Amino acid sequence: MKGKLITFEGCEGCGKSTQVALLKEYLTTTGQDFIITREPGGTEISEKIRAVILGKENSAMVDECEALLYAASRCQLLKERVLPALDSGKLVIIDRYYDSSFAYQAYARGLGYDFVSAANKFALDNAVPDITIFLDFDPEHAFIRKGGADKTDRLELAGIEFHKRVYDGYNALAQKFPQRIARIDASKQINEVHNSIITLLKEKGLIK
Ligand SMILES: Nc1ncnc2c1ncn2[C@@H]1O[C@H](COP(=O)(O)OP(=O)(O)OP(=O)(O)O)[C@@H](O)[C@H]1O
Ligand SMILES: [Mg+2]
Repeated sequence: MKGKLITFEGCEGCGKSTQVALLKEYLTTTGQDFIITREPGGTEISEKIRAVILGKENSAMVDECEALLYAASRCQLLKERVLPALDSGKLVIIDRYYDSSFAYQAYARGLGYDFVSAANKFALDNAVPDITIFLDFDPEHAFIRKGGADKTDRLELAGIEFHKRVYDGYNALAQKFPQRIARIDASKQINEVHNSIITLLKEKGLIK
């Protein structure tokens, strides 16, 4: 990979999209080239898969199906957009990536690390993030800050116990991959969190 890959992770409402938008603004005003995308989604096909995964009419979906759909959406995004951008030397930023699958499907759903690893082999072999920013904010506070769950989103409706397991999953991942996953305290003010991210990314030589 000639380019660099930055991913954002953390529980629902921890501030990923807020911080991705601020990073976008920073990179634009400082004249740095990048592409930004989100998961699941980011391509026409991946957005269709997203609608299937998150649709609350799909409550019969089994955990294995969910994990494989995420992986399928990810393959499409990688081959269609992310890998070509990285090959041409671009900076790529993704709002959620395979760590979400490990936190949600492997840990919280209980599918286990091996199942999710196998499903995500293409991503693990071809596009490992240069850094993963884990916005550390516990789910109970995140839900309060967000003003409750989005009632149209199947995963947001899964209940606080589920989201606590997701949080435990992220903590386990941060311990397992300390070189790649950087923990940022996301309970701070939006601008403080933004400044910590910019400082970190500059230190790592990923942005100017
Ligand atoms: N540091 C912060 N302090 C206070 N409020 C914040 C902070 N960061 C984000 N918020 C607010 O919390 C809400 C959720 O933020 P955001 O949508 O960025 O989270 P997210 O991690 O992208 O959530 P999701 O996982 O659901 O996509 C928004 O209303 C946002 O304005
Ligand atoms: Mg978001």
